[in-house]
Amino acid sequence: MAIPIELDHGSRQSLQGQIFEQLRHLILGGKLKPGTLVPASRVLAEQLGISRNTVLLVYDRLIAEGYLQARKAIGTYVNLELPETCLAATRRIVTSAPTSGEPVKRPAIPFIGHIQTKKAAAHLDFDFYPDRIDLDLFPHKVWRRFINRIFTSTSTHFTECCDAGGLPQLREVIADHLGIARGISVSSDQIIITAGSQEGLNLAARLLVKDGTLVATENPCYRGAASLFESYYAKLVPIPVDEKGLDVEQLPRDGVTLLYVTPSHQYPLGFTLPIERRLKLLDWARRCGAYIIEDDYDSDFRYRGSPLTALMGLDDDGCVMYLGTFSKSMGAGLRLGYLVVPKALVPAARSAKWLLNNGHAWLDQATMAEFIRSGAYGNHLRRMRNMYSKRHDCLIEALREHFGAVQLSGLESGLHLAWHLPKSYPDATELQALALNHGVGVYPIGSGTTYNVGKSEYSARTLVLGFSSLNEYQIRAGIRRIADAFINLPADSRLSAIDGHSRVPPYVHHRHQRY
Ligand SMILES: Cc1ncc(COP(=O)(O)O)c(C=O)c1O
Repeated sequence: MAIPIELDHGSRQSLQGQIFEQLRHLILGGKLKPGTLVPASRVLAEQLGISRNTVLLVYDRLIAEGYLQARKAIGTYVNLELPETCLAATRRIVTSAPTSGEPVKRPAIPFIGHIQTKKAAAHLDFDFYPDRIDLDLFPHKVWRRFINRIFTSTSTHFTECCDAGGLPQLREVIADHLGIARGISVSSDQIIITAGSQEGLNLAARLLVKDGTLVATENPCYRGAASLFESYYAKLVPIPVDEKGLDVEQLPRDGVTLLYVTPSHQYPLGFTLPIERRLKLLDWARRCGAYIIEDDYDSDFRYRGSPLTALMGLDDDGCVMYLGTFSKSMGAGLRLGYLVVPKALVPAARSAKWLLNNGHAWLDQATMAEFIRSGAYGNHLRRMRNMYSKRHDCLIEALREHFGAVQLSGLESGLHLAWHLPKSYPDATELQALALNHGVGVYPIGSGTTYNVGKSEYSARTLVLGFSSLNEYQIRAGIRRIADAFINLPADSRLSAIDGHSRVPPYVHHRHQRY
């Protein structure tokens, strides 16, 4: 019996692989029925014009996987014991015959998360996207040197999982850093090393959030946090933000389990929560038994005044969890961050991390620990701070040069600022469309990484501008391009926002000169 096998000698798949796949399909599709004798290896080799050895290797594999059986004096035949259900199920796939009747009903998946895309927009010449940092500033050489040193000086730990909480030496240097830089006195046991602060948020949510849990957030807030809590079926309670950050007086008196807050540099508006509000916040948490997540995502970059002690540094009641990340100082691709939890939550947080992924990858932790311990991280931070401080000042200057007395917030620290547009300007979405058409990315509140839980007073007239991934030349050129486009607006289009007609005006259709 000749078996219908066709070989493609130009294929990247080996001959052995092709024969194996085709025989397997013939068996699963029912064309070679259980008990059917397959041709002797010599015969099939002749039929296909290939070496007998190749056929023997294929038969051995099919026997090993249970598709064929071999008996001395009888020959090789299709396994009699292939279960009928398996054949029937796979036959449909293999033959791709149309299925009849109702499609199989499967339970709806309970997960309701949405992905937040962070890809660079290739069509933009200048993108003021808030969460990107300059790739060229990653300390490639030093990092490589540390990795090499770790490989040669210590035994590697690729074959065993780390402690669920993370590498002890990394947790120790982080605890020291938090004491000096943020006024937080914690033992290294309270630190869980995570894949960025996003995983820290996941761990916190895993501990505290279930269907219907009330989670209060600033409004507007960081999309990564709000969407995450929603994916756990939390009910978000938006708390307005004013020029001093979260309006503590508007927190509900009870019922809230968790509050997510960015006290050092409110995300995205950049306000700093003053000390009296911090103390009131802790008092509120104490009274209503809530936990607070303090997301301290960019406090390494402070340009004016001395930093306020972190909320966790003021907490005597064990209600604050602190989120730290190396995404801003090193790069988000490293996926390295940490969650600091109150002592009472340590066992649960360690178990949650263990169940999630058995602890964080060893090599990056070991490299980061050495990088910090040696002082290289401190040097790197100083360099980055210096660079970003210049970009920060450059952006403010460029805005003032082209748009006059601009109203800005979030200038003390961080890698982005918020620009509050006057009433005589198009609204934020119109300005975004105008900039976009001229190859520049700027972001109204509620787009990109920012989230309005319902409406916030900043929705219509605020733009977020990140400056850390653009050099000074690009920052100036980007702002100049928006300004030129803006100046060329026909007067009636410029007034569209005042009239209350929210429309993308006709001027956005012509492209402007390039810089
Ligand atoms: C408010 C806020 N928190 C946290 C992060 C960092 O997230 P991750 O550490 O997961 O990269 C960002 C983004 O860059 C952010 O804007």
